[in-house]
Amino acid sequence: MKTHQFEVLVVGAGGAGLMAGLYASRTASTAIITKLYPTRSHTGTAQGGIGAALGSVEEDHPEWHTYDTVKGSDYLGDQDAIEFMCNEAVQAIYELEHMGLPFDRTPEGKISQRPFGGHTNNVTGKPVSRACHAADRTGHMILQTLYQQCIKNNVTFYDEFQVVDLLMVNGAAAGVVAIELASGEMHLFHAKTVIFATGGHGRIWEITSNAYAFSGDGPAITMRRGLPLEDMEFFQFHPTGIYKLGILITEGVRGEGGILINGLGERFMERYAPTVKDLASRDVISRAIYLEIRDGRGVNGQNYVYLDVRPESVNKYAALDGRKNPDGSPFVVTGEQILAKLPDIVDFCRVYLGVDPVTQLMPIQPTAHYAMGGIPTNKYGEVISNEENTTVPGLYAAGEVACVSVHGANRLGTNSLLDLVVFGKYAGLRAAEFAKGAAYQPLPADPAAFARAQFDQFLTADGKENAFDIAREMKKVMFDDMGIFRSGQGMQNALEKIRELQARFKHVRVTDTGKIFNMELINAWELGNLLDLAEVTTVSALARTESRGGHSREDYPDRDDKKWLKHTMAYLRENGRIELKYKPVVITKYQPKERTY
Ligand code: FUM
Repeated sequence: MKTHQFEVLVVGAGGAGLMAGLYASRTASTAIITKLYPTRSHTGTAQGGIGAALGSVEEDHPEWHTYDTVKGSDYLGDQDAIEFMCNEAVQAIYELEHMGLPFDRTPEGKISQRPFGGHTNNVTGKPVSRACHAADRTGHMILQTLYQQCIKNNVTFYDEFQVVDLLMVNGAAAGVVAIELASGEMHLFHAKTVIFATGGHGRIWEITSNAYAFSGDGPAITMRRGLPLEDMEFFQFHPTGIYKLGILITEGVRGEGGILINGLGERFMERYAPTVKDLASRDVISRAIYLEIRDGRGVNGQNYVYLDVRPESVNKYAALDGRKNPDGSPFVVTGEQILAKLPDIVDFCRVYLGVDPVTQLMPIQPTAHYAMGGIPTNKYGEVISNEENTTVPGLYAAGEVACVSVHGANRLGTNSLLDLVVFGKYAGLRAAEFAKGAAYQPLPADPAAFARAQFDQFLTADGKENAFDIAREMKKVMFDDMGIFRSGQGMQNALEKIRELQARFKHVRVTDTGKIFNMELINAWELGNLLDLAEVTTVSALARTESRGGHSREDYPDRDDKKWLKHTMAYLRENGRIELKYKPVVITKYQPKERTY
């Protein structure tokens, strides 16, 4: 087996992985392994902006950003980590700017900012412009900028390598096993430190904004190595995905004045969030859309409502809301401005829907978007292994794969790009520092044994089952019973189904026995990851008998701080069962109170 050795090994080349690699490479030998090409990472699909209280266009403060994030998290976010992230945000944006990121500009040349859901002026309660953006391609620009910086800094890249196992020796990270997709060969990466930045697992659900690559590899791998997963029951549905396809339509559309309209032509968010209306937090808006559809007010009785960014509508509602520009003049937009600020959205709608958003309404429905839960870490990206926050030597995680927890039960839009830049940086710094004083761990005699056993199964199984059928059934039951609204009975049904699918999965045999780009084999293994994460998500959710953020139960409609102001820690035990434990939420300045928008 080919062996490579690096002081810092980063798995994943999205924003968090690139930021980690960039910072680590300043003082340590660093490699980034990615199953894609770096510039195809899912960060590239993030559209509307990255949050930071720059105050470019109106008054804003990191304290307001902190409070909004705590409130948005439905008080489940750890307040020390949230404060840390929001304070770091301003410097992080200027750093990206200095690296060459082409942010949009105000007429005076400052970084342009737009409103986003849940970001408010803490005095008036009205939306505040906090999302720094590069048109509606902010993630794409971050990815390009960071990749260029990594190349400049001589980070070594292993593109199209699928990581399949984490090596742990004496309780510390010792490297990973990966398959080179072009040859099918297993490679051993021996490392002093490993940073997981593999992104999310939204492909569990039928309608999702997530890329095919988001198969939860990082959390599935670490869970199989005995480490816990935190708060997996909390998964965010973004309110505006393209109907049936799930492709993201940025919240920036509503930031630019777009509104949601039901089948009766009503701007229904006035009823659910009277102060900020279409700019409430995502959990609130997704539930509102669901209720409108359930109560027969979808468009033509179908499962969708409209997003309307036609200039005449934007201007009408902006006037009714009394929305003003920073200079006090009335907020008015033209079709040309919509095109300039939302070029990709206009393109997506034209291509996928045959709809021109400047003159027509966009059919949308909520789409599975973001994992609030994941591999538990502290605010320096160090992975923790238990309820006492003990760190795992040499192991780090950052970005969507990690649970710091800064998003708690519901993430605010723009805070994912911020999360990956801030915590990617600190994970990289910490890993490089650790590596300086650490020796390489001795490797086990057959380091690839565990991974090989997982892949051999697909070549020797009886073949009675088909991976595509299992994937389809998993996505359907998770969307129906583990979606925006949940109930004990529905979740129990989902759990039984997932366990049935896990049993059937053991019979899946791949038909392609070749080695070169055997994506049938890789996809089968990815499906195993998704099934395991679907199970842990459902078990964690069933136990939580309350509603909070992205976990909304019809049988327990209220938040229950007395019993449930705590993080779930889920462990996969050797007998295959999942055990749940809990740890307290860090509360510093803000006592939980009722959320209104
Ligand atoms: O709506 C959006 O542009 C998505 C941003 C995010 O998930 O933070």
